[in-house]
This record gives sequence, structure tokens and C-alpha cells, in this order.
Amino acid sequence: MSLKGKDILHVRDFTREDFEQVFEVADGFVSLWKEKGYKKLLEGKVLATLFFEPSTRTKFGFEAAMLKLGGTYVGWAGISYTSYEKGERFTDGIRMIDGMADIIAIRHSEVGAAQRAAEVAEAPVINCGDGTNQHPTQPFVELYTIKKLKGKIDGLNIALMGDLRGMRVVNSLVYGCAMFNAHLILVSPKELTLSEDITKELKEKYNVRITLMRPEEAVAEADMLYLSPMEIARFEDEEEYYRLRGTYGVNLDFLKRAGAKEDLIILHPLPRQEELSPDIDDTPYCGYWEMYRSYAIPIRMALLAMILGTVK
Ligand code: CP
Repeated sequence: MSLKGKDILHVRDFTREDFEQVFEVADGFVSLWKEKGYKKLLEGKVLATLFFEPSTRTKFGFEAAMLKLGGTYVGWAGISYTSYEKGERFTDGIRMIDGMADIIAIRHSEVGAAQRAAEVAEAPVINCGDGTNQHPTQPFVELYTIKKLKGKIDGLNIALMGDLRGMRVVNSLVYGCAMFNAHLILVSPKELTLSEDITKELKEKYNVRITLMRPEEAVAEADMLYLSPMEIARFEDEEEYYRLRGTYGVNLDFLKRAGAKEDLIILHPLPRQEELSPDIDDTPYCGYWEMYRSYAIPIRMALLAMILGTVK
């Protein structure tokens, strides 16, 4: 499928072939990025980054990708000093920005906000996170990193541990893992399990193998361990957040006791809390720095260039 002019709203709108096409284009940008190069593929194009919620990696990542391809960006981090602060209707503001930009990247606390933006915007809309629902470009980054670090995705044991209910990164990544025939190992408190609807869809549509495990078992079995943090913004009940926060804490000692494979890779969307100890940062298990420092920007460059139609 051509990505030209396409909104990126939900991972289920893509196929494995789409992922592979984006990976192939990103391959061409990795060395450009690493060598701090520059290519005028998107000269004259404007990206609007509308972040109603905080972000470091996604917002700056798309902005850096746009600049590296010769385009530019406008936008905000938080609505202070925009007319939303004066009560502007959500879609009115989007209609205005749509007239100023070639592509829109949006993050919002409400489920469906990116979809609502896409309904009124002519420019393609990239969902950079809508509440607990989706963050559909993140699995492109994560699966590309797995492919680069492990050489493949098919057949890997991918363990996801932590909040599997409210984290949109998880609700996005599981679809991508399913498309690549990974075995999903799930570890969570009973209150924070993957939704039944998603589980049903993954099994019916992708025939994915899903196994529930305890933390030690999962770590011993995993080729890739994905730690999902608990974020207060994704909990309706504060008491529940404070009760469950800190349920899991993975450090080097825990990995050794659990019998982690020597070539286990750990990924984390960041920012981290106590579920990921800094003592893993400088070990071969750590894949999260490499993910953001080497592979996230080339993927975002590929997505922008493909959606804006300068690369097929
Ligand atoms: N992983 C991620 O979405 O990071 P940011 O919140 O910093 O964008």
C-alpha cells in the first residue's frame, strides 16, 4: 500500500508489508542520520506538531526528522498561548492549522482525538498518542529496532511486562508483533491485563500465540523484554495507580536470578520509572538507547517522506 497522503491513526490499518516497506526506506536513512547528514527531500514542506500532552522523543523526533529532510515545523508543546486556552473548539483549531501545514502530528489525552482531527483536516494526520488508545508510529520504531538488533522478528518470544491495559504503546506494539508472528508473553497485575477486545482481535485476525507468565518465567523465556511503565495519566483511579506502581522492578540481579538469555534485548518506550533499573543501561541487554539514538529518527524520516509522497 502506498502511504502517500495517508493518515496514521491505528496500527491495524497497516500490514506486515507496509512495515517492511517503511523499514526498507528507513535503511536508507540510517547512515544519513548517523553521519549527521542532510537531504532536501521535503524542502518547502511544513509539519505541524500539536502536542496537547508532554513528549520528548516523539515530538522532537518528528521535528528533527523533518529538519533533516529539509522541511520545517511549527507547533506547540502544551496549549499555553494558543487560542485553545481561550476555549477554541478542537476541530476549529485543526481546520486553521490544516491551512498552514502539509502534515500534522498530534498527541492528545482523549481517545479518538487524532481521528477527529483527521476528519476535518485535508493534510495527513499522524496520531502520536491518543489517551490510552494508540501510538501507532511507536511499533514501527520498536520492531525496526528488534529487527536491527536481533536480525529478525518472526518467531521471537516477546515478553511485555507492566501496564498492559492503559499504555497506548502496548496497545499498538502487540498488533505489530502479531503481524510478524512473534510469540507474545504477557506479564501484568490482574487489574492491568491486555484488553479482551484486543486479545480476541489478535487471536482471530493474526492467529497469534499468547501466553501469560510470571515475571521470572517470562524473563527466562524472552528474546525481547518490553517494560511498560505505569503512568498516572493512564489510570482513572489514583489509589489504584499508587497501589500498583512498583509492582515490577527489573535490574541486573533479577535478570541473572531469572536466568535471562545472554542475548536478551530489553526495550522500554521511556520515560522510565522503577520498573527499569539504571544498572541495565550500560549492559548488552539494553536496547532502548540504541532504539532512540540510531533507529527512531530514520523511521520518522521514512514515514514523513512516504506520507508526503517524495519516497514510494
Ligand atoms: N515513547 C514516547 O512516546 O516518548 P515521549 O512521550 O517522550 O514522546
